[in-house]
Amino acid sequence: MSGVLPGPKGSPAKHPAARRLWHVLVLAVLSFVAVQTLLVWESTKLSRTEAPLHATEILDKCRLLDVKPGPPPDFNLRKESDRFVPGTRPTLIRNATIWTGRVDGLEVLKGDILLDKGLIKEVGPIEGSLLESLDDLVTLDAEGAWVSPGIVDLHSHLGVTSNPNFAGASDGNSHHGPILPWLRALDSLNTHSEGYRLSVSGGVTTALVLPGSANAIGGQGIVIKLRAPEDRSPTGMLLENPYSINGSEYDPSLSFRWRQMKHACGENPDRVYSNTRMDTTWAFRQAYDKARQIKEAQDDYCVKAKAGEWAGLGKFPEDLQWEALVDVLRGRVKVQTHCYETVDLDDLVRITNEFKFSIAAFHHAHETYLVPDTLKAAYGHPPAAALFAVHARYKRESYRGSEFAPKILAENGLQVVMKSDHPVLDSRFLLWEAQQAHYYGLPHNLALAAVTTTPAKVMGQDHRIGIVRQGYDADIVLWDSHPLALGATPKQVWIDGIAQLERPHSHVKASEAQHVPKVPNFGNEADKTLEFDGLPPLEAEHVEGRSVVFTNVSSVILRDREGLHETFSTSSHEGVVVAKNGAISCYGTMSSCSSFVEDAKERVVDLQGGAIMPGLTSFGAPLGLEEIGAERSTSDGFVYDPLVQTVPKIVGAEGAIIRAVDGLQFGTRDALLSHRSGVTTAITAPKSVGFLSGMGTAFSTGAAHKLEKGAVVQPVTAFHVSMHHSGLASISTKVAALRHLLFSPPYGTIEYWLSKVRKGNIPLVIDVDSADAMTSLIELKREVESRFLRPIKMTFTGGAEAHILAKEISEAGISVVLYPSRPFPSTWEQRRILPGPPLTETNAIETLLAHGITVGIGVRTADLARNARFDAAWAALETGGKLSRSDALALVSVNLEKALGVQTDRLQSDLVATRGGDLLEFSKVVGIISPRRGVVDLF
Ligand SMILES: *[C@@H]1O[C@H](CO)[C@@H](O)[C@H](O)[C@H]1NC(C)=O
Ligand SMILES: *[C@@H]1O[C@H](CO)[C@@H](O)[C@H](O)[C@H]1NC(C)=O
Ligand SMILES: *[C@@H]1O[C@H](CO)[C@@H](O)[C@H](O)[C@H]1NC(C)=O
Repeated sequence: MSGVLPGPKGSPAKHPAARRLWHVLVLAVLSFVAVQTLLVWESTKLSRTEAPLHATEILDKCRLLDVKPGPPPDFNLRKESDRFVPGTRPTLIRNATIWTGRVDGLEVLKGDILLDKGLIKEVGPIEGSLLESLDDLVTLDAEGAWVSPGIVDLHSHLGVTSNPNFAGASDGNSHHGPILPWLRALDSLNTHSEGYRLSVSGGVTTALVLPGSANAIGGQGIVIKLRAPEDRSPTGMLLENPYSINGSEYDPSLSFRWRQMKHACGENPDRVYSNTRMDTTWAFRQAYDKARQIKEAQDDYCVKAKAGEWAGLGKFPEDLQWEALVDVLRGRVKVQTHCYETVDLDDLVRITNEFKFSIAAFHHAHETYLVPDTLKAAYGHPPAAALFAVHARYKRESYRGSEFAPKILAENGLQVVMKSDHPVLDSRFLLWEAQQAHYYGLPHNLALAAVTTTPAKVMGQDHRIGIVRQGYDADIVLWDSHPLALGATPKQVWIDGIAQLERPHSHVKASEAQHVPKVPNFGNEADKTLEFDGLPPLEAEHVEGRSVVFTNVSSVILRDREGLHETFSTSSHEGVVVAKNGAISCYGTMSSCSSFVEDAKERVVDLQGGAIMPGLTSFGAPLGLEEIGAERSTSDGFVYDPLVQTVPKIVGAEGAIIRAVDGLQFGTRDALLSHRSGVTTAITAPKSVGFLSGMGTAFSTGAAHKLEKGAVVQPVTAFHVSMHHSGLASISTKVAALRHLLFSPPYGTIEYWLSKVRKGNIPLVIDVDSADAMTSLIELKREVESRFLRPIKMTFTGGAEAHILAKEISEAGISVVLYPSRPFPSTWEQRRILPGPPLTETNAIETLLAHGITVGIGVRTADLARNARFDAAWAALETGGKLSRSDALALVSVNLEKALGVQTDRLQSDLVATRGGDLLEFSKVVGIISPRRGVVDLF
């Protein structure tokens, strides 16, 4: 920019008066110049106010320091998006039900949406003349289906890591020091991750990609759109790129683009640098002190420079390493802070007040709901809380994480965001986090806003994304059901007006799925959570010796010899189930069961149209073997891996095999939360890092200790090994080891259990994802069977690629336990997943079931075990009704038990009572009828 004043245009005026004026002007200018020359000469002589060579640039820099971030003033007048791809056809979506995100998330419009030039051109009634002017219009009838803004993920590592994960693309964490504000996620952004395509298929259109949390200040984040850009470059993915590629894209002095900065406190940065919290906090303060010094030096410098007092000013004070942190102090950076615990939140809030900058959001933020006033004391404005719905207790800092946090924070007037931390959670299912937040009490308008409008605002992009509104970016999703309904799946996703799904598959959803789902009231539970500082007691009330009468029961599903069957159902409110000492004594109507309910002492529980269904089973996580995943002291620990370690003689050396039942811990919070969610049994194998795990066990999640009646369902269930690229031995070595064990088992307990495997008495359970490894195992099964002339029981768990071998697995009589139930290519071995709708017509569960395979589903982490009911329901929804309710429940009960060697006594199996819906709906578990424990548990 030049500082030259505009000069008079054309020739001097002809009029005499004007000519006189002209002379006067010329004289004035000449004398001014003369005086100036004299002054300059004087100043040169005195060496006092000499302007340096680059004065203009320096003054430009000074002016730039005051520019506030945000869109240019005329942004809303734009007729075309800067991200518009020429050739994109305009699109008209007719007859949609539109959740706009406006009016606090309460506005719903019925009508049409026109997308053109990368923008939402019109919402509502659209004039015919406008449509006629458009060439090549694509028209789509939504038939009343829901439309929302594209999902916005405030915390993702898409691109700075890779899916599948590769050592060569793990670029999210630098280990070069605790303070690295100069690093930029953009410089790591890998464009080849499978994650983009998958997340888009879940409706995610924009993500804030952040560096990891290994550092107190880990570097600068970037906002990207998830569609593949035409130029295939990382830069092409950026939304409002704050970094220039060649200096011509935008003028920061007109509108300064928001920048993003990652901070982290607590365990992650502490561990990497063997620091204490005191060290990390000092690192922050030292860094901000440095930035403050530079900022103050710049401000002082510019005051003088603008006044023309150049003498002794020297160079403009700046430092490329610190400029981003200086910008934080100038209020031009959204500071995104990974921070869990009260002590860390408090530390950071103190730092914001000491150095006067604000924090956009605390991420993970598991204890924010306990200290709303601390957040409100932050400099500038209270940070938003960016949360997981139920993912907690994986480390000590997250131990007090609560599913009620979104509700409690919102009640305190704080902004709530649900985020993925992809790939920690697969951002394809970020909407599920909002659904769960809603289930646990966050109002529906805020729940949907928590993955659209609120994150857009928190990242400083709410002038263009996060809302369905004229002039906004054409990033929208058309859903097959209400977006808060379980299993809501995009029918189409548009980014910058470009449809992202080539051949979307979707199944017709029930009409009730088109409304905001009804959810239970968890007010008491939320209050108790606060009362107990985040750790409310989770034990049930045990009712023994007297009857519990469940009234208003609409359906009863029980186990019989063949599996699960609906034994009773009614549409009236007359249904009654009477239970005593853990057994059902009568079901039917009040009159038919009257002889069982005469007892005046009985407890009556109104199920409000709810149901009684079989208790569920969990597998896949170390449930019952640990309290806090990352705290070894709370866990049973890992077994020896005889492939790469010497097993001590005292354990039995090569002849040793470890039993999970010997390490069981009862009453872990994850077990109790599972119990409260209808997961009454857990099957767990010893924790292993390599090949050999040990003997699995099945236990009651609601039991207090191992010696209690019914606590252990079956001490030993199956023989567990694993065939992954983990540990030091190759897959082929592991196959060889398994072959050796089966053909010539060593002495000791391992021989005892392997002989049972060879006789087909207990299953050999192999954790395996790769289809290639599975083929070797299918051959091994044949070898063993032809040698010993008896069929053996084999089960694959994990099973990411099992669908590829559905026919062969079926012929070999092998069962499969898929976990996670919604697949994700975390590793190369899992890359060939069958993602399910909308990307493929069927999911892996349906494919395997169609081949007659016994299929169960499980979870990877203990905190998610509670979701078995929803995982099963969701799997069934994806099949568009091909799986009945009983089929869905079987995935997480009878099938799982059969595949994993639990000899279920159907009469001893638990039942679950739910209020306001059945176990597969957003109902509440209020009771458990446990024959094996001889009690009825009430919550
Ligand atoms: C919109 O779709 C709904 C559901 O299919 C239908 O009942 C209604 O008549 C449609 N309205 C218009 C204007 O087409
Ligand atoms: C800089 O890059 C932009 C975007 O790629 C391009 O449109 C422009 O022509 C480039 N300018 C120069 C001076 O190279
Ligand atoms: C049964 O539950 C329904 C809700 O599903 C409720 O409206 C009704 O009042 C209840 N009836 C009785 C008799 O409790």
